[in-house]
Amino acid sequence: MRVMVVGSGGREHAIIKKLKESAEITELYALPGNAGIAKDAQCVGVAADDIPGMVDFAVKNKIGFAVVAPDDPLVMGMVDALEAIGVPCFGPEKKAAEIEGSKVFSKGLMKKYGIPTADYEVFDDPSKAFEYIKGKNTYPTVIKADGLAKGKGVIIAADEFEAREAIRSIMEDRKFGESGAHVVVEEFLTGPEVSVLAFTDGKTVKPMISSMDHKRARDNDEGLNTGGMGTIAPNPYYTPDIEKICMEKIFLPTVNAMNAEGRTFKGCLYFGLMLTPQGPKVIEYNCRFGDPEAQVTLPLLKSDLFTIMKAVRYGTLEETEVVNDRGAACCVIMASDGYPAEYKTGYPVIIDKDLDAEVFFAGVKEADGRLVTSGGRVLGVTVTAPTLREAIDTAYVEARKIRFENAYYRRDIGKRALEAKR
Ligand code: AMP
Ligand code: GLY
Repeated sequence: MRVMVVGSGGREHAIIKKLKESAEITELYALPGNAGIAKDAQCVGVAADDIPGMVDFAVKNKIGFAVVAPDDPLVMGMVDALEAIGVPCFGPEKKAAEIEGSKVFSKGLMKKYGIPTADYEVFDDPSKAFEYIKGKNTYPTVIKADGLAKGKGVIIAADEFEAREAIRSIMEDRKFGESGAHVVVEEFLTGPEVSVLAFTDGKTVKPMISSMDHKRARDNDEGLNTGGMGTIAPNPYYTPDIEKICMEKIFLPTVNAMNAEGRTFKGCLYFGLMLTPQGPKVIEYNCRFGDPEAQVTLPLLKSDLFTIMKAVRYGTLEETEVVNDRGAACCVIMASDGYPAEYKTGYPVIIDKDLDAEVFFAGVKEADGRLVTSGGRVLGVTVTAPTLREAIDTAYVEARKIRFENAYYRRDIGKRALEAKR
């Protein structure tokens, strides 16, 4: 079968490497992919959000199955467009992708169906939002743009001044565009964060191994929020007891709520959880695999990914195995120094021949026959091992075998997780 994967980051590279293990796939395409992905799939220059371009490619190339991985095309309705011309897809339809596309929608869903999350109010008027925050006078307070904002639409305001600035930048200056037409103001929660990526066909929920992202740019969770600077799996805070609570109180209720709303979700549903003193609560939903969560969860998935993706599409997940490895994994993101703000690119990426790790490429391109940096997050180095400590230590040994000018990576990926284990 001829399969296409939409997207161009490290997550898409991890999906593609896993799909390559499936004997059923004869041709694998990445649209647009990147110069690093080109070793594992045929890259085609169609932008990830170009719906007519994707439809055209799928028809001309007799694509038998499509995987739509990034949030933007899902929220725009790329799955609906491909399914409409008879291409079966892995990924939610537009009305189900709304669970990530609108925080006003997802918070309303949780309230209506009693799914635990932070208390909140929605505003479309900046002065009303600010009056509400002033009246409450509890800090820090959390202010979120309604729509997609490349993972940057969440501001944690420490005091009244920062809250006023946050409202101004999101709602008046429209720093995140139309995403800021509405804001969600919510209660600040505390506790360890856990990411759980779960396959669902709208009936059955089968999670992959839990993971922990590291969102801030610098060590000790300092610096700006990024797309994610590294991940580990499994997340040691996510015990079997907590897993049971999450399945009963969060995962299944969410899938059922989406069905009740006529928005059946099929694909990978990402639960961003916080383990608060009152129990696990939802911080956010994503309608897709996380990046860089996919770079640790997929290498630890023992079952055939393509078989699972088809089961999700055709509603047969219940009888399909999703077996996770008992080991651990660590992914260290190597970035261009300065990311997520300004950074320089165009530097050759040099990898030692004896590298013993998986490399998932993100911000790279080809120039004069060489691989050079072209983005903020350049690549992820993933190591799997029997224990978390071994995975982390080895990931850092292997990362030193990859060099490019201006390279930057956090030195403390997994540190908190190891502390939790003590
Ligand atoms: P999000 O983009 O929704 O994942 O939010 C980015 C980060 O902001 C999360 O990973 C949390 O660390 C933090 N965050 C979001 N909402 C809350 C909240 N209600 N309380 C505390 N921290 C939060
Ligand atoms: N790593 C967080 C995300 O993919 O949204």
